[in-house]
Order: sequence, then structure tokens, then C-alpha cells
Amino acid sequence: MNMNMSDFNFVPVKLRSLPVDVHLDCKVYFEKPLENVEQGEPDSELILLCENQTITQELTTRLKRAIFPKNKVYITHDYVVNNLFDKGHFLGYSEQEVADIRAGKKPWESNEPKAALPKKKIAKVKKLSGIEVYKDKIYELEKVIDRYDKVKSGAADMLSKVAESGKIDKEQSELISKDIQTQLVQEDSSLILYALNQIRTEDEYLHTHSLNVAYLNGLVGKWLKLSAEQQSELVEIGLFHDLGKLKIDPKVLNKPGKLTEDEFEEIKRHPVISLELLMKSGVRNKVILEGVIQHHEKVNGLGYPKGLGSKSISDFAKITSISDIYDAMVTKRVYKEPVSPFVILNEFMKTGYSELDIKYINIFVNCMIDELKGKVIIMNDGTEATIRLVNPRKVLYPIVEIDGDVVTTDDNLFCSKMKNLLE
Ligand SMILES: [Fe+2]
Repeated sequence: MNMNMSDFNFVPVKLRSLPVDVHLDCKVYFEKPLENVEQGEPDSELILLCENQTITQELTTRLKRAIFPKNKVYITHDYVVNNLFDKGHFLGYSEQEVADIRAGKKPWESNEPKAALPKKKIAKVKKLSGIEVYKDKIYELEKVIDRYDKVKSGAADMLSKVAESGKIDKEQSELISKDIQTQLVQEDSSLILYALNQIRTEDEYLHTHSLNVAYLNGLVGKWLKLSAEQQSELVEIGLFHDLGKLKIDPKVLNKPGKLTEDEFEEIKRHPVISLELLMKSGVRNKVILEGVIQHHEKVNGLGYPKGLGSKSISDFAKITSISDIYDAMVTKRVYKEPVSPFVILNEFMKTGYSELDIKYINIFVNCMIDELKGKVIIMNDGTEATIRLVNPRKVLYPIVEIDGDVVTTDDNLFCSKMKNLLE
């Protein structure tokens, strides 16, 4: 029997609260279906997105991409009432709205101001975190970014001189290192971390990355309460670690796809070239030289250039490889979107142990979690939230604050990216 779509009563679902275990053997459309689409045979352009599938995070992401601009997906009224509501899945509707939908009303068509989505609440913690919401700190943040940008132009200049002359201007690099350390002492680390997250263009990738690893190394030095001299060494390792990339073909360096074996061999030359540049420039500090040449060594012996085991890799090289990976992942590049810090920290906790040093991962993750508290983040549904509590064993799902409510996050409502406060 053919029926017009107008014979159906569709219910828009607020995906944000769609339970993970809902089995959607119903029709889900990109848009409210066209009048001439027949029952059971939706227009292929509208696409039956998830018939007979369980909502998974992956699926939710696909739905979000397809539908979230409108923030809703339509499923049939009967299915919602007879299968979902009756099983206690209220799809984000309030009690009153559920009663209305059961009675055949369409609360989504009402002009009444929409009730806030129900949120999973936990007991409010009186003092959630020592750091106030970032919105109050925009002025300070602008100052930090301004200072960071000045150091960044110094780093760009240093690198272009190395590219031209094959040597490091030691006076200049010491000055940059001092600036970084002073900033790390004088300013709020979490604001500095924010500055590192600013979008960078492809042509400034190398000097920005080198600088950011220098800052991150300096932060770890600060967290570890190392001496000023050691902190300075760590910062300089960050500044110098990838200098060798100046001699690698940019087409290989910036290649978006998978590298061929030869291309990877080419890239693997860069720590050795960095070391040669340092030697040529008269750098003789063994700690710095080791940190640079070993920053791609892995504790499982599968790194390069030498495939050293954990005991042979210097502490500062181990720290640098963590900073290096963190910055590379958190960055938006031509071929990839930035990864949320929570996803990176979760990766470190889950799989980093085989390649990275367990002691330094724990320090890095725990300190980074502390710095992230109080920051503003954008959730996957576009809501703005403030990070309140993060459990290191469940780092992917921090507890956030949305409109004054404390909310737990999960596969359906999760942190998507840091908010750019200066946008
Ligand atoms: Fe590198």
C-alpha cells in the first residue's frame, strides 16, 4: 500500500540525549521527508541512515555531521511512542512534552520558548576548581597570546637563518629560550597552553611546532620543579629538535596521505641532521644533543634513528617525545582536524605506554588535566561548556558545567574541541 508522507506524524529527536542502546529499526531522515516519498521506500537522497543499527558513537558522529545543523532527526510518531517512550527513552523531551507527543501534539512546532534539555546531574561540588571560567580572562589571554606571538616571530627568524646559513644563532636562541622561561614563570600555564592551541598555517608549521614543543617541555620542567638550568635545556631541546626538517623535502614533510617506505626513510633522517646543525653551531651540551637526537626513540626499541631501549634514552628525550606527539595531534593541519586534548590524553593513557615512558606520561596527563580545568570547551552538539572535573582513569569523559548545571559526559555528549575565545 502506498501512502503519502503527509499521512505520517514525525517526531524530531534531540540526538544529544539519545540513549546509546536505542535500537533504531525506524526511519531516520536527513530532513523532514518530502510529501511524495512512499512508506518503506524513502527517497535515496534522503537516506535511511540507521535502519536496524544500534546508535554508536560512530553513528552519532555521522548523524551529527548530517543532521546537527538542524539539530534533529525525524522518526515516526508510532515508533517513538510504542517503542522508545514505553521503554523509558525520552529522547530529550521533558515530561510534559512526552505527554503531549503521546497525545498526538507536536511540541516542536510550538512557539513557546523551548525547555532546556534534561541533563544528567550529579551533586554540585561547592568549589569546583580553583580556576575561574575563562570568559573572565580574555584580556589576560590576549596579553599571553601577544607575548607568545612575539616569541614566535623570533623563532621564525631563527629558523630562516638556520635554513640560509646552516647554523644556529646561539645568542638569538638563548634569548628565545629565556623569553619562554620568563613567560612560564610569570603567566598562568593554562593560558599559555591556550596560546599554543591557536590555529597555525602550514607555512608556519615548523617554527610554531618547535616553539610549542619548547613551551611544553618548559611546562613539564616546571611541573617537575627542575632547576632553571635544566628547564632551559628542556626548552632548547624543544626549539632545536626538528631543525633537521629544514633539509627535508617539504613535499614529503607535508604529504597528506600515507608515506612510502622511501619517504619515511627520508623523514627519519631529521634527528641526525638536527644534531649535525647543532654541532656545526658549536652546541656541545650533551643533555641537549642527546635530547635532540633521541626524540623519536621509543621505549620499546622501535624508534629511530638507533632503536634504543628505554634505559638508553635520556629523560629529556622521553619528555620531548611526549610534547612532540601532543603538539602534533592538537594541531589543525591541511590533512587533519585538530584532536581534542581529551582524546590525546586518553590515547596516552591507553596506548602510549608501549612507546613512551610511563613515569612521564603519568606526570604529563595529570598535570595537563589540572591545566584544562576551568577551560571552555565546545561539546559535540555545539553547546558551550566549562571543564570542571576530570578523572585520569576516564579522561575522555570529563565532568563539565553547562548553564550552571554540572553534567557528566559520555558517548553521546562529549567534548569536541577547545573553544576559540578570541573568535
Ligand atoms: Fe621530530
